[in-house]
Amino acid sequence: MDKEKTESTPLIDIKDLRKAFGDNHVLNGFNLQLFPNENVVIVGKSGSGKSVLLKCLVRLMDYDSGSVQVLGEDIRELEQHDLDKLRTDVGFLFQGSALYDSMTVRENLEFPLRRHAKRMEGLDEDELIHSSLRSVGLEDAIDLMPVELSGGMKRRIALARTLILRPKVILYDEPTTGLDPITSKEIINLILKIQGEYDTASLIITHDMDCARVISNRMVILINGIDYANGTYAELSKSKDPKVKAFFK
Ligand SMILES: Nc1ncnc2c1ncn2[C@@H]1O[C@H](COP(=O)(O)OP(=O)(O)OP(=O)(O)O)[C@@H](O)[C@H]1O
Ligand SMILES: [Mg+2]
Repeated sequence: MDKEKTESTPLIDIKDLRKAFGDNHVLNGFNLQLFPNENVVIVGKSGSGKSVLLKCLVRLMDYDSGSVQVLGEDIRELEQHDLDKLRTDVGFLFQGSALYDSMTVRENLEFPLRRHAKRMEGLDEDELIHSSLRSVGLEDAIDLMPVELSGGMKRRIALARTLILRPKVILYDEPTTGLDPITSKEIINLILKIQGEYDTASLIITHDMDCARVISNRMVILINGIDYANGTYAELSKSKDPKVKAFFK
């Protein structure tokens, strides 16, 4: 049988991605594929280029060479209008929650809806806001200001704001960093619940190996700007390679 036809098409396909800041060669030929329903975790030391990678993926940052295909589109070929549209299909949970401090929770959630009004036409805005808040268990927080929320609540609201556009892929940059272990576990369970509920695939960047173990179908270890190792948590945790072993201590 034709091999091409039996394999599913990746939602994200990164080939030989390179990005430098002057002499600082951050990505040196990085490759990654994300398939439907997968949760792929990327681990790497601080400063290894994980956030840069995510930013290149949605063209918040330009890259030097290589190719990035997202939902079948070469992101470099897209006109601004199509790039905006693509960004509604790819949710991005930034490092830190990045809520707008001067807006209530409701207004924070309305913001992406207004910005991408066209695409969500026909869907009831209020129902979208409530269902997204319900998914993260915070319907009661709708009229609060970010300053009134705990760190974990902010993270959940940011996730609700990402969900409101019903993305096909969600990119998480350090979803549990700075949270206590119990709240981290809640966020991890929420991410898994959302994956089931909304049928999304996710790329998750984390330092937290407990998070990686629970959440990942597959892991990629970013070392020296390349996808140094790729496999399941179980496979990689048994690796004899000292560079890989260092992540599992
Ligand atoms: N806008 C920028 N201009 C210049 N250098 C940058 C810029 N953004 C990132 N860098 C550099 O790129 C490298 C990778 O940064 P990045 O933020 O991707 O690290 P990271 O792996 O996400 O680290 P952390 O785990 O601490 O979040 C660092 O050396 C950083 O200084
Ligand atoms: Mg980072």
